[in-house]
Amino acid sequence: MACRQPLTPVLRRLTRTASSEIGRHSSKSQQALLRTTIRCLSTSQPRPLRQTPSRRTAQAKDEFTSTKYPEIQRDERFARLTPEHVAHFRHLLGDNAVIDGVTSPSAAIDDDLAPFNSDWMRKYRGHTQLVLKPATTTEVSQVLAYCNEHLLAVVPQGGNTGLVGGSVPVFDEIVLSLSRMNAILSFDPVSGVLVAEAGVILEAADTYLASAASPHIFPLDLGAKGSCQLGGNLSTNAGGLRLLRYGSLHGTVLGLEAVLPSGLVVDDLCTLRKNNTGYDLKHLFIGAEGTLGAITKVAIHCPRRPAAQNVALLGLPSYEHCRRAFSEAKAQLSEILSAFELMDAGSQALVTQVTGNTHPLADGGGPHPFYCLVETSGSNAEHDSEKLGAFLESVLDSGIVADGTLAADETQARTLWAWREGITEALGHLGGVYKYDVSIPLADMYALVEATRARVAEAGLIGEGDEFPVRAVVGYGHMGDANLHLNVATRRFDERVEGVLEPFVYEWIQERQGSISAEHGLGLAKKKYIGYSRNETMVGLMKQIKGLYDPNGIMNPYKYI
Ligand code: FAD
Ligand code: MLT
Ligand code: ZN
Repeated sequence: MACRQPLTPVLRRLTRTASSEIGRHSSKSQQALLRTTIRCLSTSQPRPLRQTPSRRTAQAKDEFTSTKYPEIQRDERFARLTPEHVAHFRHLLGDNAVIDGVTSPSAAIDDDLAPFNSDWMRKYRGHTQLVLKPATTTEVSQVLAYCNEHLLAVVPQGGNTGLVGGSVPVFDEIVLSLSRMNAILSFDPVSGVLVAEAGVILEAADTYLASAASPHIFPLDLGAKGSCQLGGNLSTNAGGLRLLRYGSLHGTVLGLEAVLPSGLVVDDLCTLRKNNTGYDLKHLFIGAEGTLGAITKVAIHCPRRPAAQNVALLGLPSYEHCRRAFSEAKAQLSEILSAFELMDAGSQALVTQVTGNTHPLADGGGPHPFYCLVETSGSNAEHDSEKLGAFLESVLDSGIVADGTLAADETQARTLWAWREGITEALGHLGGVYKYDVSIPLADMYALVEATRARVAEAGLIGEGDEFPVRAVVGYGHMGDANLHLNVATRRFDERVEGVLEPFVYEWIQERQGSISAEHGLGLAKKKYIGYSRNETMVGLMKQIKGLYDPNGIMNPYKYI
């Protein structure tokens, strides 16, 4: 990208020299942030972060969900696991596909089971004694048919990066891990259709597409890409960082294969873009959060990988300025705009605190009250740079943006992205987090963070000292999709905080016709609150569908339906 002189006084571009500046001031910590992200999320191991001693010790102290929420009672219709059940599964799948705490309980087995029992936030912890790892659709079908017949409850689990407690058991449900079903089955470079098993890790799918003779891109990207799986992505209807550009999975998924609790294999692995033959049943599994069956295969339409990508980070004086910048970005960047993300000062301060890094806009009048990350993706680098340059000039000239920086290469682009993608990880390092992933019409979106901050302050729960459970109330998210992530960072989970936040947050959203779940789903966290976003008729129809697909209710019980 050519350096645009008129921008340099205010808009400090990360030139190669500037990049080494960053390197000099904070390269160790900056790289540490990148390394942390890579180490935690870019391997095929589920949450390797857990392997660090501090996390393991902390995890040992995590409270069981059943203790924390005593109002949730085990459904005694479900059978308890016996050695006969386990013997059946061992025979069916082989010893290596079974983690068995039923017949051979030991501290070592408990350690093996622990990552399947605890969620990513370490907010929910179940009591499973059995993890099954089938390798084929037939095996999934045999497992589920047996569980259904013997009334054994099951939780399908992918990468276990879900943020609403949906992916872990509450009591002794069997965990059905899809992680061994991790083959890419086909890719057609002309149509762009990828067919893969549900256990393929999102980043692995994208890497595969990037290295194809005609490089393509997976139409979903998110911070947990190194651990989450395609089956989990579909089951949560994950949105992520580029929904603005590539749309939702309801649009890009062309077909899927799923197994119902009866063992029936629903083969709807269609690879056509158009198929108007009756009800499009695949959509029921997208966002079902494992309550209807287990997704085993996916067919998805992937676009060509953009040849040119540019990333800019902007500092802005108010939320209203962010809104204006977004409107300008849509008008001026139109077809090349691929992400428009929002971060408030508090979220960036937390990343700074955890990583020790210097913020890229720290010395340009920063810290700013708000930051926006703008990404363009297109086919012509020169054309895109010119457009982005013109956009940046105009928002600076008109006073919408106070300061900004433009990545000069891929490494710098990744560094800027780390300030956005690293927020979740940073929050996770500070203690417990109450997370609210919500959709609100843009005009009101950030007001929720302010209202929540005021409420928590009024309750005397926020402050510097250890006696205050809350450290900070921060907001960030996918501004391009009117999707806010309101996060209340605490020193420890505390029921007083939960009491102040819920149902306050949900009532606030309902009053503004928002959605209490934009992209993470409902899981266990929002089980009680579905009525704030769906009326009785809708919930009633959902229950009927659940009853039809899963009459014994064995699939992911105790969750939202
Ligand atoms: P899991 O967590 O294992 O499961 C999630 C749900 O799906 C559970 O209810 C589970 O029972 C069900 N499930 C899993 N696999 C299957 C299957 N094969 N068949 C049926 N049901 C199944 N989410 C976003 O939408 N956007 C983001 O930008 C985003 N960023 C994140 C960043 C970080 C750092 C983290 C930790 C999480 C983020 N998430 C985000 C949340 C999470 O990554 C997504 O919800 C992801 O899609 C979950 O995939 P998973 O494989 O980890 O599923
Ligand atoms: C994100 O956009 O970073 C994710 O959805 C995770 C989160 O909400 O923290
Ligand atoms: Zn998100």
